[in-house]
Amino acid sequence: MPIGTTITEYFIEEQRRIKGVSGDFTALINDIVIACKAISSAVRYGSLVGVLGAADTENIQGETQKKLDVISNNIFINRNEWAGHVAAMASEEMADVYHLPTQYPRGKYLLVFDPLDGSTNTDVNGPVGTIFSIMRRPEGATGEPTEEDFLQSGVRQVCAGYALFGPSTMMVLTTGHGVNGFTLDQRIGEFILTNPNMRLREETQDFSINTAYMRFWDPPVRRYIDECLAGKEGPRRKDFNMRWAGAMIADIHRVLINGGVFLYPTDRKLRAKNQEGKLRLLYEANPMSFVVEQAGGLASTGTQRIMELQPTNLHQRCPVIMGSKSEVERIVSYHLEAQ
Ligand code: AHG
Ligand code: MN
Ligand code: MN
Repeated sequence: MPIGTTITEYFIEEQRRIKGVSGDFTALINDIVIACKAISSAVRYGSLVGVLGAADTENIQGETQKKLDVISNNIFINRNEWAGHVAAMASEEMADVYHLPTQYPRGKYLLVFDPLDGSTNTDVNGPVGTIFSIMRRPEGATGEPTEEDFLQSGVRQVCAGYALFGPSTMMVLTTGHGVNGFTLDQRIGEFILTNPNMRLREETQDFSINTAYMRFWDPPVRRYIDECLAGKEGPRRKDFNMRWAGAMIADIHRVLINGGVFLYPTDRKLRAKNQEGKLRLLYEANPMSFVVEQAGGLASTGTQRIMELQPTNLHQRCPVIMGSKSEVERIVSYHLEAQ
């Protein structure tokens, strides 16, 4: 049986196309791929290896960590700290910038990640994933990287993507030249290119939002969802479907395959806690926005392009509305009309 294009082969070919590239980036991707395979394995064996349940610790956002949040974070760190491609890392599960141990060489890339997205799904055998984003360290920066070095807008991402641990394990990523999807062939332990040049469908009737928060929504979000719910009898003149996986990675992956829109907007309840949205800009919203935009979709807060937001801290949150272009444009227009 012929083996398809492996993810390593794909990136080496990409590297050959771009003049003056050192191979550092390809080597970094390779380590991220190995980390994702290791996390996939930990997730898959679940109770058999005692990794489910809470870790009895809290992260910087005050969320109880799952054992798998901690395990996945450690896997990602260990795999990416030694090779000399990364200057420093930051993650949902660490309060501050992670500085590499002194014995390892420093590279030119900054790596940010959500080691396990949707981690409440682990205990119910639901889909989870890993999200990552790669930026260059700012020109001229010296010494150990600081938080400031990480506070770059999403348009400056060099590469972003995710691994989705569902019935099969997939990696979907972009370097700014479209989006490609790879499926882990467990028989040979390699990610194989299965979804080249992924494009978001325009014609869609799916929306994804946690309707439990409906009473707290702002009027533009309420208007959009009310119109979807009105179906054929409403202004949209068609019936819609609602889906919510509890892991943005799984919801946005579905949007990439089937079209539609994913919303985690800000609302009255979040504002009362001084939060603008729930999802984090640097390691959730920005990487997923890069992928969605590169697949022909849009990603907005409702009033601003997510990737143009200037981050002010590592764990900053933002409202997230992303998916098929015409749907996001519609929701943005409702926000603008309401201003
Ligand atoms: P994480 O597990 O990394 O903290 O992220 C969970 C996020 C996101 O993946 C998901 O869409 C959302 O939280 C679900 O939030 P609700 O429980 O409020 O629906
Ligand atoms: Mn997450
Ligand atoms: Mn997480």
